[in-house]
Amino acid sequence: MYKLAPSLLAADFGIIKEQLAKLDEAKVPYLHLDIMDGVFVPNLSFGLAVVESIRKYTKMVFDVHLMIIEPERYVEQFAKAGTDIFCFHIEATKDAKATVDKIKKCGMKAAIAVKPATPISEIKDLLGELDMVLVMTVEPGFGGQKFMEDQMEKVKELVKLREENNYKYDIEVDGGVDNKTIAACAKAGANVFVAGSYLFKNHDLTAQVQTLRDAID
Ligand code: DX5
Ligand code: ZN
Repeated sequence: MYKLAPSLLAADFGIIKEQLAKLDEAKVPYLHLDIMDGVFVPNLSFGLAVVESIRKYTKMVFDVHLMIIEPERYVEQFAKAGTDIFCFHIEATKDAKATVDKIKKCGMKAAIAVKPATPISEIKDLLGELDMVLVMTVEPGFGGQKFMEDQMEKVKELVKLREENNYKYDIEVDGGVDNKTIAACAKAGANVFVAGSYLFKNHDLTAQVQTLRDAID
């Protein structure tokens, strides 16, 4: 079962309540929230206050992608703000295992993200404990970049490892996903698709969501 995850980064914050309502109406299951600290990535985005504030307007699963250093410092606070899936970058923490344990203890699902240059071998020991693995298909930090097709090799590797070891994680792709590139992601075996600029460039979100669904089917 695949899931679409619109990236809030590309939304129009002036009409955010209406945009969330449209996504709910279209039965979009996940909302992807990119948290950036200007250190782990060169860009800044929004933080806890925004997560907490929009939580009351939608029932979508909050898939929070933290591009911050020392994500373990904020696990409890993101849980309290209404996060369902807490995803951090493997390079951002000194103790990934302890971070995963803390995320689960706080009642959230645990996910790890890998940048384009990060091999899957970096997270191999933790795969059995993850609910999701995020394969970046652009360099993290900005929306609107070009999709990196070569990252599909990592998606395929994750599918193979899941089969061989009976792991349970979902495989998410993030960056440059549109109605053309999404087919390659689905074919490689990804099942959670983040889409930012492609989805929100058209204010008719319902129609835009449908183009992605059509492209997958
Ligand atoms: C990039 C973020 C993405 C971004 C995707 O660092 O992780 O989630 O919003 O945006 P698009 O779909 O425009 O590439
Ligand atoms: Zn993201």
